[in-house]
Amino acid sequence: MYISLTPCDFVVIVLSLVHFGVPALYYLCLRLFWLGRPWGLRRDYTYTPRVSVMVPTYNEAHLIEKKLDDLYMQDYPRESLEIVVVDSASTDGTPDIVRDWSHIHGDVTIKLVTESERRGKSCALNLGLRHATGEIVIITDADSLWRDPSTLRKVVSYFGDPNVGAVSCIKVPAGELCDIERCYRQYYNVIRVGESKIHSTPIFHGELAAFRRFLLEKIGGFPTDVGADDSHTATKIALLGYRSIIPEDVVVSELIPKYGYVHWRVRRAQHLVQHFLKTLRYVKYAPKKFREILLVEAYFHLVNPWLLLTALLLDVYLAALQSVIGLILLVLYLLAHLNKTFRTWTLSQYYLIIAALRNLLNPELVWEKQVK
Ligand code: GDD
Ligand code: MN
Repeated sequence: MYISLTPCDFVVIVLSLVHFGVPALYYLCLRLFWLGRPWGLRRDYTYTPRVSVMVPTYNEAHLIEKKLDDLYMQDYPRESLEIVVVDSASTDGTPDIVRDWSHIHGDVTIKLVTESERRGKSCALNLGLRHATGEIVIITDADSLWRDPSTLRKVVSYFGDPNVGAVSCIKVPAGELCDIERCYRQYYNVIRVGESKIHSTPIFHGELAAFRRFLLEKIGGFPTDVGADDSHTATKIALLGYRSIIPEDVVVSELIPKYGYVHWRVRRAQHLVQHFLKTLRYVKYAPKKFREILLVEAYFHLVNPWLLLTALLLDVYLAALQSVIGLILLVLYLLAHLNKTFRTWTLSQYYLIIAALRNLLNPELVWEKQVK
């Protein structure tokens, strides 16, 4: 049987090849050529500057004590450590728990800053920054666990190199097994570290994001118009020529919501879309190596998902017209979902598409609390 390829079939094939091929090549390139390379940074474990760890909280009564215990267990010199909790009008007694905890742990400096009204995480961070005295400022979400007591020491050691402006972490999902989340993380962690080895990664994690204080001041604090406060801040620091890196030995666990997983993923995707849209304005000022990374990541977050959607819609249309190629491609696409990695990938693409549309209605700069 002779099957001819119509221009429409051809478009579907090209769009699919680009959509799946470009990220696969990027991943392979980072994995094969960059992941194993040395950092080329002067790491210094004897460098122990004053560090402020900021924990923003909104209704974290069930987690905050564990979080503070985690920080207390860090083997960083206590006289050089300061914890700043910034609470935004929690209604579940979070500040009282912080106060009680500080009475019991008199040997660590802890400041509790409270806002009378909730205005979002970034506003709270900017308020906290005014009270933080550390040379290095680290933000960490209440629902993240620093299981390794040397986490802080490892992070700070990278700042021993004056070229490093910001450091974040590898994330692993904690708690009940969430396969999709784990699979998604494995892929993204390779990319984060690979990009960091080239220069910097434009995606940071609020579970642990460390910044040089003078750089935070230079860029005007945390952005209040972009949900991804962590990623946007790291990117602005890299735009100044400093390295914003995620090293492979700083690993933090994060709790995955028990309910509302899809909403949670869409909201995070919304924040990343906002971040890359805004970053495009500055791309021309980026150091060359970082500019390339930024452009690729902006493409992945803003354009690539739409190629998949276009290819799929076109393919459904072809299949409806009983095009043999269209039908074959559609069946292949559906069958590919039996593979977990493929499923994880396509889901994250749909989240990005929904996120871009949802941003038009509600940017979610102040978001609903998910039960973890
Ligand atoms: N003070 C204050 N005020 N803290 C807040 C507010 C607020 O309005 N909203 C959220 N927080 C705190 C939470 O209590 C938690 O400690 C931290 O900020 C992160 O909130 P989550 O609700 O756990 O956010 P997430 O994990 O789903 O979102 C992640 O992605 C965001 C970007 O998309 C986190 O990594 C965030 O840090 C990140 O900004
Ligand atoms: Mn969280």
